[in-house]
Amino acid sequence: MRIDIISVMPELMESAFSHSIMKRAQEKELLYVHTHQLREWAVNEYGQVDDYQYGGGAGMVMMCEPLAKAIESLKSERQYDEIIYMTPDGQTFDQPMANQLSLKNNLMIICGHYKGIDQRIRDHYITKEISIGDFVLSGGELAAAVVVDAIGRIIPGVLNNETSALFDSFQDKLLASPVYTRPADFNGWKVPDILLSGDLKKIDEWRYEQSIERTKQRRPDLLDE
Ligand code: ADE
Repeated sequence: MRIDIISVMPELMESAFSHSIMKRAQEKELLYVHTHQLREWAVNEYGQVDDYQYGGGAGMVMMCEPLAKAIESLKSERQYDEIIYMTPDGQTFDQPMANQLSLKNNLMIICGHYKGIDQRIRDHYITKEISIGDFVLSGGELAAAVVVDAIGRIIPGVLNNETSALFDSFQDKLLASPVYTRPADFNGWKVPDILLSGDLKKIDEWRYEQSIERTKQRRPDLLDE
């Protein structure tokens, strides 16, 4: 999978893509993440990519021309399955959306800043608008990094233990069960006996019950669905 991200602050995301699982995904050539500086398509020598909004009001708007040029330039190289705009008024990102996007070949992500991007770019180029939650970030970069991480780690072959993403919270609409590691007794705080029993069937049952219990307590809305 290839993901191209257009932003005025690509540096904000680059470290998120160069460590741990994202790094491994790229080393294994299962994921290619390319960031692009929007100012390369600026309207003048000062690197201008934004302007005052029509109708007045505080805050700048990202202009059509640099965005259209950047998008057209990438589109001339390959076909994109989705051109995504990160915005708090988009569809809320969740695990099913991450699963769907992880099956695509080429994604383009546009990060907004200031008041956002000119509506005409949204109308004519954007195929999907994603929000990572009901709060406003100062730009789309951190949201894009969240989305790329969630997608990248579930691309088949990325995780060492192929099955481990299957047991993540949300994969089956349940929260994950609690986990423990050595020592079995820390300051008198003991690991549940069942996990030390070696009985894999019982352990699976216990984990499933714990998942249900945790989901009931913390996210009963998931069980209603
Ligand atoms: N840009 C600013 N806030 C955002 C959010 N909550 N989700 C996605 N993009 C954003």
